[in-house]
Amino acid sequence: MKVLIVGGSPRAKGNTDTLLSSMRDELERNGVSTTLAFLRDYSINPCVGCEQCRTDKTCSRFLDGMHLLYPEIESAEGLVLASPTYNYNITPMTKAFIDRMYPYFNFSEPRPGPYSSRLADRPRVAATVGICEQNEASEMGVTMPALTEPLRPLGYTICDQVAITGHFQRGSVREDTAANERVRAAARHLVHELHST
Ligand SMILES: Cc1cc2nc3c(=O)[nH]c(=O)nc-3n(C[C@H](O)[C@H](O)[C@H](O)COP(=O)(O)O)c2cc1C
Repeated sequence: MKVLIVGGSPRAKGNTDTLLSSMRDELERNGVSTTLAFLRDYSINPCVGCEQCRTDKTCSRFLDGMHLLYPEIESAEGLVLASPTYNYNITPMTKAFIDRMYPYFNFSEPRPGPYSSRLADRPRVAATVGICEQNEASEMGVTMPALTEPLRPLGYTICDQVAITGHFQRGSVREDTAANERVRAAARHLVHELHST
């Protein structure tokens, strides 16, 4: 059983990294093998909508870092996707990662019409994590739905959406016991769901 953990913060050793490190520890403590990928370490172009993936079944427009992640996505039953809030939304690199999962869709002609995802070949479970500076959850804007909703049609069952507020300084969330326990609980829930699917 494997979980791919994807971090979408441009800031190394920041709050997103800290929460994902807690999640990875908890997942591994529960016997799950993990791959932790920080998107800032990959060069991922934004999707340009060329639609060539409709015939090629992969992205042949860009031979970039996303091709290192495709095999990880496919081989992992679990996914954790996290982003800090940037202007009420996810970061551009997180959005690019999500959009570059578009080749997994099979679309029928004529369009628009029914579609399916090749990632629905087996049960897959995901948890999403967002973190922002302000204390009010409303200050996250669309961060949580932007992280979560695209994963459903791709074939993931969502087991948790963890929204952490009130952290600005790099890594300040390390001292936030409640926040760390929330992500650790989400990790345990993910393991439980992976075992029951
Ligand atoms: C460009 C930019 C935009 C931001 N926009 C918001 C925002 O809309 N709401 C908010 O509460 N925090 C906002 N923040 C603060 C970050 O979400 C916060 O500092 C977070 O802890 C950063 O996570 P990281 O350390 O993983 O990068 C913004 C930060 C930056 C750099």
